[in-house]
Amino acid sequence: MKKRNLVVANWKMNPGTLEEAKKLFNSVRTAAKGLKNTDVLVCPPHPFIFPLTKLDRPKNVFIGAQNIATETKGAFTGEVSAIQVKNVGAQYVLVGHSERRTIGETGDTLRKKMQIAFDVGLIPIFCIGEKERDKEGNYLTVLKNQIKEALVGLHKKHLVGLIIAYEPVWAIGKSYKEAMGPTDIHETTLVVKKIMGEIFGHDIATSCRVLYGAAVEAENVSNIIKFGNISGLLVGHASLISEFSDILREADKIK
Ligand code: PGA
Repeated sequence: MKKRNLVVANWKMNPGTLEEAKKLFNSVRTAAKGLKNTDVLVCPPHPFIFPLTKLDRPKNVFIGAQNIATETKGAFTGEVSAIQVKNVGAQYVLVGHSERRTIGETGDTLRKKMQIAFDVGLIPIFCIGEKERDKEGNYLTVLKNQIKEALVGLHKKHLVGLIIAYEPVWAIGKSYKEAMGPTDIHETTLVVKKIMGEIFGHDIATSCRVLYGAAVEAENVSNIIKFGNISGLLVGHASLISEFSDILREADKIK
């Protein structure tokens, strides 16, 4: 049976107030109601997780965290644990987003976070992506290393059905004009599955869902969906504006 499509709204450090967060969430709820094959995951900043879970929502709308700590509890000022976000209603968590890698998260850090997510019953969305797409193809090694470093050592049972978000870092935050083309997206999703197959075997590779993220906007979403060979999207800046509803409608067409 075909798995449902997944569109993740990564709000990053937005919006500024709970009132705005509720308004934004409300528009997602409304748009999600019309979707047949698509689940929508909203990842707000930590303080908004709990209040948003208290609002009514259709069955295809989920709430997740953007980050969790590498430890489960203790003297880690400013950190938020997996148990805590789970306890207030998060069901998913982003792991390995490039903006967190930039502030020092390594493969080891990410493996610990993946393990903790599995331990507490959060579904991780494992993010990978190259900083540049060089002609020599070194980006392939980058992707392979990111996968190896964070996933080798985890129990294989956890990797079945893993959700991987491929996000070319050079396109994150840019306009659709600078986004990756659908053919390259298609090729890279195949590469990601191939790497998963080489390391973990065919069954795990075919069970994985690959999402695409970086510069997805209302203008390019349709082609990405048609030709990108993806199971869903990870949307940053465009998840904060009304065009997100159009993106959701297009994503519902993923076959
Ligand atoms: P963007 O961000 O859609 O603003 O490019 C995607 C992401 O960082 O997850």
